[in-house]
Amino acid sequence: MPINGSAAVPTAPVEVPRGLAGVVVTETQLGDVRGREGFYHYRQYSAVELAQTRSFEDVWHLMFHGALPDAAQRAEFAGQTAALRHLPEEVRAALPDIARASVLSGPLAGLRSALSLFGAAKGFRPVYDIDGERRRADALAASAVVPTLLTALYRLGQGLEPVEPRDDLPYAANYLYMLTGSQPGAERARAVEQYLISTIDHGFNASTFTARVITSTGADVAACLVGAVGALSGPLHGGAPSRALDTLDAIGTPDRIDPWIRERVLAGERIMGFGHPVYRTEDPRSRMLRGIAQGFGGELVEFAVEVERQVELILAELKPGRELHTNVEFYAGVVMELCGLPREMFTPTFASARVVGWGANILEQAEDSKIIRPAARYVGPVPPVSVPVAPEGPAA
Ligand SMILES: CC(C)(COP(=O)(O)OP(=O)(O)OC[C@H]1O[C@@H](n2cnc3c(N)ncnc32)[C@H](O)[C@@H]1OP(=O)(O)O)[C@@H](O)C(=O)NCCC(=O)NCCS
Repeated sequence: MPINGSAAVPTAPVEVPRGLAGVVVTETQLGDVRGREGFYHYRQYSAVELAQTRSFEDVWHLMFHGALPDAAQRAEFAGQTAALRHLPEEVRAALPDIARASVLSGPLAGLRSALSLFGAAKGFRPVYDIDGERRRADALAASAVVPTLLTALYRLGQGLEPVEPRDDLPYAANYLYMLTGSQPGAERARAVEQYLISTIDHGFNASTFTARVITSTGADVAACLVGAVGALSGPLHGGAPSRALDTLDAIGTPDRIDPWIRERVLAGERIMGFGHPVYRTEDPRSRMLRGIAQGFGGELVEFAVEVERQVELILAELKPGRELHTNVEFYAGVVMELCGLPREMFTPTFASARVVGWGANILEQAEDSKIIRPAARYVGPVPPVSVPVAPEGPAA
């Protein structure tokens, strides 16, 4: 049956697995995840190979324009995206208030408001009303500005002044610069860049699907991205890396790993940084990030490797047949900690890369005129029931 366009609307409801697991809802040229093989790709390239060999901007170009850039396109795209890092004045002026209002929830919560404001300030129009070029310009502008918004919100929340972006630095180095105020060393910048590339896209994850659902209504790019940020913020999606590191802290020492984990799993709790909705083998991002972490070395890395080893054994024993391994979040947390990122910036850092994937998905979805509108099986009291007479007294 065709996925798009000519498929007839089913007359009877179609039952699908819980959580839509494995349900194919559209076609995409952006990439896919092969859960059983432990492989994922951006367009036709292995995402891990891209992370190991190319720059963030190259992969951004691949996602937005369909091909890796040649030398001239590379320079042009890097210049174009660097120029888009700067904030419009209306947004810059509002950031202190947004940071103050979201101080308890953190920069990712603030980003939702800031992105909304950015879209309004730039005059974003519904994707339904604009052509592909204009949509791409909006998606590029929004993606480019997210790191600036996040780092400024973080710094304001800490009582620090935001640091202006530098156009002469590549994406990841500029990100760390805006966060800390000092230019990072090459090793740290490259480690973060590899992490960022590896999280740009990952199949039809919840936030990508959210972005595409909103796009299918014809809403503007900022609206689509704000929804995606909300979906990403949940601990079952992007909210886990700092929690995975908190778990390492809570365990504390190698002799406590076994009892600590056993107790939690037997109590029905989930161990953060383990398990994945699609991978039934090692998460390839986890393998790559473990390698990067081991390149840095040190006590934390050795401890994390030992926790991974023991947790996998315990989960295999207590949850037989489930194939639970580390996911991207486990070593992402370790790498970010080693690179000096504050924990409250772990999920925002994830968002600053994933926004490129969301942008590419928005552009692709906007080409499809069909609104995404599934159904739910009603299980409440059998209707119609007569509406009871309103109680006496003043209306509320
Ligand atoms: C990622 C995650 C949401 C995937 O969930 P899912 O595909 O719905 O997996 P399921 O809930 O079907 O899990 C299957 C079984 O393994 C268990 N399980 C899954 N992840 C687990 C974990 N991290 N720790 C302990 N048990 C886990 C579930 O409890 C379930 O057991 P049950 O069948 O006895 O109820 C889940 O693994 C999880 O919550 N992990 C921790 C949070 C995390 O790391 N999130 C980042 C994701 S990238």
